[in-house]
Amino acid sequence: MIKNGKIVTATDIFKADIGINNGKVEALGKFDGTESIDAEGKLILPGGIDVHTHLDMPFMGTTSSDDFETGTIAAAFGGTTSIIDFVVQPAGETLSNSLSIWEAKAKRSCIDYGFHMAMTDINDSTIEEMGEMVERGITSFKLFMAYKEYMCDDSSILKVLEKAKDLSALVMVHAENGEMIDLTTKKLLSQGKTGARYHQYAHPAIAEEEAVGRAIALAELISTPIYIVHLSCAGALEMVRRARARGVKVFAETCPQYLLLDVKKYEDPFEPSKYVMSPPLRERWNLDVLWRGLSSGDLQVVSTDHAPFFMRQKEMGKKNFSKIPNGVPGIETRIPLMYSEGVRRGRISLNQLVEICSTAPAKLMGMPQKGMIAPGSDADLVIFDPDKEVTLSHENLHQRTDYTPYEGMSVVGYPVKVIANGELLVDNGEFVGEKKRGKFIRREPCNIAGGR
Ligand code: URP
Ligand code: ZN
Ligand code: ZN
Repeated sequence: MIKNGKIVTATDIFKADIGINNGKVEALGKFDGTESIDAEGKLILPGGIDVHTHLDMPFMGTTSSDDFETGTIAAAFGGTTSIIDFVVQPAGETLSNSLSIWEAKAKRSCIDYGFHMAMTDINDSTIEEMGEMVERGITSFKLFMAYKEYMCDDSSILKVLEKAKDLSALVMVHAENGEMIDLTTKKLLSQGKTGARYHQYAHPAIAEEEAVGRAIALAELISTPIYIVHLSCAGALEMVRRARARGVKVFAETCPQYLLLDVKKYEDPFEPSKYVMSPPLRERWNLDVLWRGLSSGDLQVVSTDHAPFFMRQKEMGKKNFSKIPNGVPGIETRIPLMYSEGVRRGRISLNQLVEICSTAPAKLMGMPQKGMIAPGSDADLVIFDPDKEVTLSHENLHQRTDYTPYEGMSVVGYPVKVIANGELLVDNGEFVGEKKRGKFIRREPCNIAGGR
């Protein structure tokens, strides 16, 4: 039982005790009982759901540095109790074998997890296999419109959209125009512009805007929903906003890095490679536009795109920015940052924080047992101290990497106890949960009707 806390859902804030039994919320009300946690003065949020992570992912000649154990422990410290990670189909592999590879990695997970299937090889046989994936609880498929080794052409995207429509599955896209990026990269390198700071110019906003517009048009033709991952700039958001205004079911996420950091980071004289991610950081004026998109509902989700690397891995691109493994760590810092920089600064409400970090991800990704605090839902709960001040540093975070893009930044508001399926995982800075306890989430078709 958790007593005296202030429960926050996507729609309400109220004081009640929470009765927990068998890993589920049994009742909300006023109870007596011995086995209880006192949450007086604290907020109780539904466990965070991060629908975009890359744990133990082979990528750009190396592997992301958090595995399912270290990454999910870090997630729990930051108030995230479920993730959806991307299976990335290795070239020539079946979807079924690709899934088996990720199932083996995920046995180490300390929190519940699901998978999206990132298809890199679209042919009759992989299209056919999509049905088996849905039966096995993988109800979303991701396509890359960039990265030479993974990217799909429009004809492949259309085939996947058609099959996904038959299966009530959701197609997600990394929307950047890969050909534009390739051409620009070659030009920059041939001019001797090889340093990490040139990454931003190789990935101009127009390449994202074009790809978002095209992905939406393809989905509109097939009359099936589409989900844009890691949207980073105002032009791309405008594409989403216009499509939603004409009734297209397009959904989009952004990430804390695009809401809080800007291109100035590429001027860091020592380590601009820390901030090499795709899409890249944008000009500062975009940030307010993204915050407004979250508050208006044109952006529905904040995920992390957690793709951590050590600085020694980033050095692989010392002489050529296009060889720097793309990605930043962030699985642990999402909720504290969104509370401190979002809620406390009046950019989003407390209910919206819950909506975009937990409730909407659960609805959109077909996890009706998650994302809320209600009788029958999974007892995934974050006891959050709204006044706790923490200075973020890779030294006090638990992500397995040697930097955070938020080094030295102070946040106010932090999880103090984190409970997953009724089990206490994090207690005042200690991981007290069992390891490898996470269960696979067999997802239902995506509840698009429930999306805003
Ligand atoms: O830079 C990024 N985003 N790295 C991870 C892979 C991806 O594109 O999501
Ligand atoms: Zn991506
Ligand atoms: Zn990603």
